[in-house]
Amino acid sequence: MTVTAVAHPNIALIKYWGKQPLPGNVPATPSVSITLDSLTSTTTVSASDTDQIFLNGEATQDAKITACLEMMRAEFRISSVKIESENNFPTAAGLASSASGFAALITALNTFSDLDLSIQRRTVYARKASGSAARSIYGGFASLGGPDWIGRPVLERSEWPLKVVIAITDENRKSVSSSLGMKTSEETSPYFDAWVSSTAEDYAAALEAIEARDFERLAILSEASCLKMHGVMQSSLPAMIYWRPATLSCIHAVRDLRRDGTPVFFTIDAGPQVKAVCLPESVEKVEAVLGNIPGVIATHTVGLGEGARLLES
Ligand code: PMV
Repeated sequence: MTVTAVAHPNIALIKYWGKQPLPGNVPATPSVSITLDSLTSTTTVSASDTDQIFLNGEATQDAKITACLEMMRAEFRISSVKIESENNFPTAAGLASSASGFAALITALNTFSDLDLSIQRRTVYARKASGSAARSIYGGFASLGGPDWIGRPVLERSEWPLKVVIAITDENRKSVSSSLGMKTSEETSPYFDAWVSSTAEDYAAALEAIEARDFERLAILSEASCLKMHGVMQSSLPAMIYWRPATLSCIHAVRDLRRDGTPVFFTIDAGPQVKAVCLPESVEKVEAVLGNIPGVIATHTVGLGEGARLLES
């Protein structure tokens, strides 16, 4: 039997950065995200004599996928498998390929191995594999918060159909993985505790802003969460500076646009790309402004996507 699942990356508006000193990959901060459409991870699981992993057509050893299989086998009977995963966007360049990849893998394994996991339990296993993957199990707006650290749906994509203009400023693989980066921040950033304690409030306020469709409030909270997270990254030893010069130019351009009345805000994950979140009527203006910034290689405009799902074969 062969099972194929697809999932999309998500971008956090209230960020997760850092883990609790507990087993099971438990985040130190709650997060809220939007799942994107167009960008897709497609993962096929099939029977095999030994475990084999192919990423974008190439045989590879992937420590996180191997650890995910081990984690699942500690609880379930899962035979040797061949895993083939394709991304239609750059891998590990701050476009959350691990979120979509693991959301698709858990969804495919669930059916391939007859695990019969509820959607909430799928978020838990996705989280254990890669924290942000819990949120890609859902479409639209999703959250991941304590005390149970289960992913939850917040709004369907049709309930607030925002758009995201992604400005690509560097297509290389990122130099520091999120897991290593988080550990470095936990151990060395003097701002880490303040980041963790202040995020609970941001999370509650963002959920209210989403519920009220209050774009301006969500804009302020999201940019603040992003800049706080990058402040923690930049105050770690060694410092993680994911931004390119064009990243900073995009930040200023988005702030100028909003000051002049265009509803748009920026967010940036552990990478150099800028995601400008806006209302549909502002897309053309935002694309034109970001596309003209020196150092912006391309812009891609996406909408909000569906949750992880099986592909009919
Ligand atoms: O789940 P990971 O290991 O891909 O870490 C995600 C970290 C950020 O993308 C920077 C923030 C987030 O909440 O997605």
